[in-house]
Amino acid sequence: MANVVAFREPDLPPPLKAGAIEVLEGAWPSGRSLEQRMSRPLANRDYAPVCMLLVEGDLAADAQHAQVLAFLVIPTKRIVHAGREYIASGLSAVSTHPAHRARGYGSRLVRAAYETLTSSDADLAIFTCDEPLAPFYESCGFTLMPTTTVVGGTREQPFRSDSIVSEEGHRKVTLMAAISDTARARWSDFEDSDVYLELRAGDLW
Ligand SMILES: CC(C)(COP(=O)(O)OP(=O)(O)OC[C@H]1O[C@@H](n2cnc3c(N)ncnc32)[C@H](O)[C@@H]1OP(=O)(O)O)[C@@H](O)C(=O)NCCC(=O)NCCS
Repeated sequence: MANVVAFREPDLPPPLKAGAIEVLEGAWPSGRSLEQRMSRPLANRDYAPVCMLLVEGDLAADAQHAQVLAFLVIPTKRIVHAGREYIASGLSAVSTHPAHRARGYGSRLVRAAYETLTSSDADLAIFTCDEPLAPFYESCGFTLMPTTTVVGGTREQPFRSDSIVSEEGHRKVTLMAAISDTARARWSDFEDSDVYLELRAGDLW
């Protein structure tokens, strides 16, 4: 029986962190040892990251043997768009253990993240993915924004999502969810526009 659990990144219990690293390495091999990765945060703590995991096994009874099937991070920060301040959350590091893909685990976890986001204090969710994965995120509740570009990096050194093409030749597309009444009322401000996240140089969540 698999269950979704969530922890602030600094509070992730070590056995679950090790399981998450195994999942992440299966998606984006880092060349670092488990020990090296265990000693560092799994996500930038400037953005108050919350980790969500789909875990098989009884965490309360035997956390050591719980298996992490899928993993993702929700980062959050304040942004300014069209002259208004919003609390924006994202989705990053969405990954399913390579041995357990195509069984619905990724969808289950991303749907749970959508529920978490839409009942959170954030105004909106915004993130990008490779274009072929857009239907996957749409089926989990998010809205494809064909004319919205996410701008990471800094104002001085912007890192535009429309400047990225994957090794397979896929471009990035933007997904969003309006959460607060303000974001819903101002939805059109996010269409046909560049949304600056103002992260660290080179970052895009
Ligand atoms: C993307 C990923 C998380 C999906 O996890 P999963 O557990 O296999 O997903 P599910 O079994 O819930 O599949 C959901 C749907 O997405 C589709 N899908 C999965 N990966 C896809 C891909 N790379 N391209 C297009 N569609 C994809 C599946 O075909 C499935 O569609 P269906 O329900 O119509 O059959 C997983 O393939 C993964 O870890 N990939 C590597 C990391 C990555 O690219 N993450 C995305 C970052 S934006």
